[in-house]
Amino acid sequence: MNLKKMAALRAVDEIGDGDVVGLGTGSTTHYFIEELGRRVREEGLEVMGVPTSYQSMFLAAESGIKVTSLAEHDVDVAVDGADEVDPDLNLIKGGGAAHTLEKIVDSSAGSFIVIVDESKLVERLGAFPLPVEVIPAACRPVKLKLESMGASVDIRSSEGKDGPVVTDNGNFVLDASFGVIDDPGAMESRLNNIPGVVENGIFAGIADMVIAGTSEGLKILR
Ligand code: A5P
Repeated sequence: MNLKKMAALRAVDEIGDGDVVGLGTGSTTHYFIEELGRRVREEGLEVMGVPTSYQSMFLAAESGIKVTSLAEHDVDVAVDGADEVDPDLNLIKGGGAAHTLEKIVDSSAGSFIVIVDESKLVERLGAFPLPVEVIPAACRPVKLKLESMGASVDIRSSEGKDGPVVTDNGNFVLDASFGVIDDPGAMESRLNNIPGVVENGIFAGIADMVIAGTSEGLKILR
């Protein structure tokens, strides 16, 4: 079986009737949202979803999940993917440029569950370039600051669009390669302290559970 899907299907078992569910972004949460929607439609599960991106909002609506927001409801359980997960459940996220709203929703949740395949499990964070969302006017000074801290930095672009990727919030993303990140919590705070940085992709100490699909079966970390 697809290992991302294996983790996603297991996570749906953690959702109870009446829950408000944080809906993460990316290919792994895609499976989660589809399966949650199937249970809503076919089994009468009553949930509402708080999306973390336009991608998850549209998918939730298509799947039959009622969509709400943090303006109206608290989140009981958030389920989200990750780009890297270390043994202390620190994460790098933002490969899809959605980490700012993801962090707001995931950190507000009563419980935050991460779903990944085994390729995301690492001993130490840092091989994946760290996404840093920046206000467009601050792009150059923030890039220079990150470089002065030892990172090599790219302004994210993607096929199909000339110029930088623009996030759901109207900002740019810098991908900063620092190598191994020794103290994820300290680095997360330090980066968010740079003027013009909206949010970086380190999620230190907020995940409660990681469900990983591996070739030997499900692996659960708490
Ligand atoms: C979105 O910006 C990211 O934080 C994703 O949650 C993360 O990149 C995981 O994506 P996949 O599930 O597609 O690997």
